Amino acid sequence: HAPAHSLLGLPKAELHLHIEGTFEPELVFALAARNGIELPYASVEELRQSYSFDGLVSFLDLYYECMAVLRTERDFYELAMAYYERASAQGVRHAEIFFDPQAHTSRGVSIDTVIDGLSRAAADAHSTLGITGGLIMCFLRDLPVSSAHETLESVAHRVGDLIGVGLDSAEAGFPPSLFAEVYSRAAELGLRLVAHAGEEGPSDYVWEALRLLKVERIDHGVRSLEDSDLVDYLRENRIPLTVCPLSNLRLGGHVAFNALPALIEAGLFVTVNSDDPAYFGGYVGDNFTQIERVFGLSQSKLVELAQNSVVASFAPDSRKQQLL
Ligand code: HPA
Ligand code: ZN
Repeated sequence: HAPAHSLLGLPKAELHLHIEGTFEPELVFALAARNGIELPYASVEELRQSYSFDGLVSFLDLYYECMAVLRTERDFYELAMAYYERASAQGVRHAEIFFDPQAHTSRGVSIDTVIDGLSRAAADAHSTLGITGGLIMCFLRDLPVSSAHETLESVAHRVGDLIGVGLDSAEAGFPPSLFAEVYSRAAELGLRLVAHAGEEGPSDYVWEALRLLKVERIDHGVRSLEDSDLVDYLRENRIPLTVCPLSNLRLGGHVAFNALPALIEAGLFVTVNSDDPAYFGGYVGDNFTQIERVFGLSQSKLVELAQNSVVASFAPDSRKQQLL
């Protein structure tokens, strides 16, 4: 086996990363103090010790609680810069970052504050670290569809600041079909389309995301393995899956974690990503290190996974060539 540090050096694209999921406990405490907010945790250690989850919803409760500390443009900027610096050290050269505007606007933070802070960080990450990419705005699927429509229309005047749209939050009971019209409007605005599907929800949700939302990539998609026709479709159409091994391990246990080698074995277009690295025990390079260690993947397979992330990205071809 090659040493782990060479895995960190592989040029990678991060395609499944919730910026609010990079909120490390130390920064949560620092921003809470700056904003005069009292947290229901005595210390950074106590907060970190609560990071034990029995599924997606139990994680989301803590995720939304911590992000409520984010108030100002500077908060969003500092959150994102901290991510870019860590990601750069783990080989990330291109990052397409999710954010959850409704989780902020519902608290009275304007969507412009969020996008301004995140965009300024993306611009600085490009000039100081050479990281390309941008922002993917996610709709919270467990909120009313009307709220997704309103959120999209509220940024129609600045779609140039976004790469695309995604769909996240509690999945079971909130099928992609609900959002077909929202996605068709997003496409009309020139936005690229992705969606979480088949994480905790059934494989049917993956079909819906492909057929009704017309997404170009599936985020997670690990439950696709339950439907062999779907596996064939994903393989034949080279649909990228943005798999997040440490997330699957922390939220779904070993059954979900073991999907990764099965998806690779099935010949699918797999990428490796970090999802919510502050909560799940590691950034994208750590995900590579873990899968090498646990599944014994060969160096050439690991290189292929890193290259897949570049190919599956929305970067211009000229940028992809630089990174391959
Ligand atoms: N799934 C759904 N919603 C999310 C996730 C996830 O993995 N992370 C942050 N929001
Ligand atoms: Zn996710």
